[in-house]
Amino acid sequence: MKNYLFGNWKMNMNGAEIDRFFHDLASSFPEKSETVMAIFPPFVYLERTVRLAKSMGVADKLSIGVQNVHEADKGAYTGEISVEMALDCGAEYSLIGHSERRHVFGESEERIAAKVNACCSRGLRTVLCVGETLEERDRGVTWETVERQLKSGLSGDKIQSDSILVAYEPVWAIGTGRSASPEDAQEVCGAIRKWLSGRFAGATVPILYGGSVKPDNSESLFSMTDIDGGLVGGASLDPGSFLYMVR
Ligand code: PGA
Repeated sequence: MKNYLFGNWKMNMNGAEIDRFFHDLASSFPEKSETVMAIFPPFVYLERTVRLAKSMGVADKLSIGVQNVHEADKGAYTGEISVEMALDCGAEYSLIGHSERRHVFGESEERIAAKVNACCSRGLRTVLCVGETLEERDRGVTWETVERQLKSGLSGDKIQSDSILVAYEPVWAIGTGRSASPEDAQEVCGAIRKWLSGRFAGATVPILYGGSVKPDNSESLFSMTDIDGGLVGGASLDPGSFLYMVR
């Protein structure tokens, strides 16, 4: 199984900061790395980051992804972008069902399922994000919540195992500085692995953990059996931290 380190920049970084990030990243980029890396910039900077990755000589190791897409091919959807547009700008991955999309923007499970399906139908590899709120954890329904999100998110007719990655991100751990313990994260990721082996017999779908992953806890989280890497927000904005976690 490969290792993964994906950086979700959310609504951070302007053009000059992105230029600086790539300059610094390239200057200490590992010659050899088995880690699959991707950065998810705000979509207006997709082309800029693709261009920078190429010109800095890191494009064969580092992919660019899109943080969100609309499920329709095109049409009257002001402010949205399609899968086709993201691909056209050089995106190789998408993030779908991130907790901020679910909880801040009110995306329903049906909509998330439609987006995952749209991405798969066009061959855009998709990270389906799942995770429970603190209230759900306290009520003891963590697995019920995650299982429901997996079932629904992967219910489309175009889903292919080789286009899917799953990120387990407990909502209470995102951006709070309070990561899940490696053991708690492993427990849920192990259950996700088991569920995925039933959904996609014979295929191995990568499972990432996200939620306050930082250089000082990445190693203990990534050493867990069923955690194949990380989806990192805040700590991915700094090239030094990003590369530390890659290593
Ligand atoms: P965080 O964000 O690392 O800043 O907690 C993770 C994410 O939202 O994917």
